[in-house]
Amino acid sequence: MAKSIDVSDLDIYYGDFLAVQGVNMHVRARSVTAFIGPSGCGKSTVLRSLNRMHEVIPGARVEGKVTVDGQSLYDSAIDPVAVRRQIGMVFQRPNPFPTMSIYENVLAGNRLNAKKMKKSEADDIVERSLKGANLWNEVKDRLAKPGMGLSGGQQQRLCIARAIAVEPQVLLMDEPCSALDPISTSAIEDLIHELKSDYTIVIVTHNMQQAARVSDETGFFNLKAAGQPGHLVEFNSTQKMFANPDNEATEAYISGRFG
Ligand SMILES: Nc1ncnc2c1ncn2[C@@H]1O[C@H](COP(=O)(O)OP(=O)(O)O)[C@@H](O)[C@H]1O
Ligand SMILES: [Mg+2]
Repeated sequence: MAKSIDVSDLDIYYGDFLAVQGVNMHVRARSVTAFIGPSGCGKSTVLRSLNRMHEVIPGARVEGKVTVDGQSLYDSAIDPVAVRRQIGMVFQRPNPFPTMSIYENVLAGNRLNAKKMKKSEADDIVERSLKGANLWNEVKDRLAKPGMGLSGGQQQRLCIARAIAVEPQVLLMDEPCSALDPISTSAIEDLIHELKSDYTIVIVTHNMQQAARVSDETGFFNLKAAGQPGHLVEFNSTQKMFANPDNEATEAYISGRFG
C-alpha cells in the first residue's frame, strides 16, 4: 500500500508571499524521510503540501507538481478530502478529540465514511490500529475512558492509531515528539521504525539526532536570507548527510554552526 512521492518544481505561496521555492525530491515508498532546517524555512509548509492541507489556509496555493505513485495530487479530478484520508498527518501537539473515548478516537476518521460499520468490524479496527501504534497493551482495559486521560506520549500514539485506522498510504508527521518527554519520544521513534515496513513516512524534526536515528533519507531546508523563500538545499541518504554532506550549508547546520 505504501507509495512513493515525487515533487517537482514546487513553489508554495501564502497569498502573495512565496514561502518555499523550487522544491524537487523523490520520497521512497516504505522509508522514512526527515525534513530538517532552521525555523521558518518551510518544512511544515512543504509537508502540508504533500496531502493538500496547505490550501485549507485562505489564499494559500502551490505551483508545480506533486505525484503519489505517478498520480498527480493537484490534478483537477482529484478530491482533496480523499487525498487527506490517504495521506495521514500527525501534529506537533497530540490532538485527541476531547469528548471522545479512546475507542471512538481511533475510529474518528473511519466514522467520517458514510458506510455504517458493524460492531465487530469496529472492534477489529480499534485493536489492529492500537496494536499498530504500540498502545494496545496499555489501554485495552479502558477503551471507553476519555482519550484525554492518557499521558502525552500515549495521546500521540493514540493520534497515530487514529491516522493508521483509515489505512493511509503515507504518514506525515510534523515534529511529533517535540511536546514529549524522552521516554515517550523513544517509544514514538521505535514505532516509526516499525511502521515504515507498511507506510511511507515523512517526518519534520528540529532534532538532528532524531533525524539521524529514524530516517533513511534527509532533506535540509534553509532560507537564503530573512524574507526570502525557503528552499531545499540538499536531499541525500541520512548516512551521507550526517557523515559527509555535499553542501557547505548543510555541513554548517549539522555541525551546529548556525540555526
Ligand atoms: N498560515 C500562514 N500564513 C502565512 N504565512 C505562513 C503561514 N504558515 C507559515 N507561514 C510562513 O511560511 C514560512 C515557512 O513557515 P513554516 O513552514 O512554518 O516553517 P518551518 O516549519 O520550517 O518552521 C514562514 O515565513 C512562515 O512565516
Ligand atoms: Mg514547522
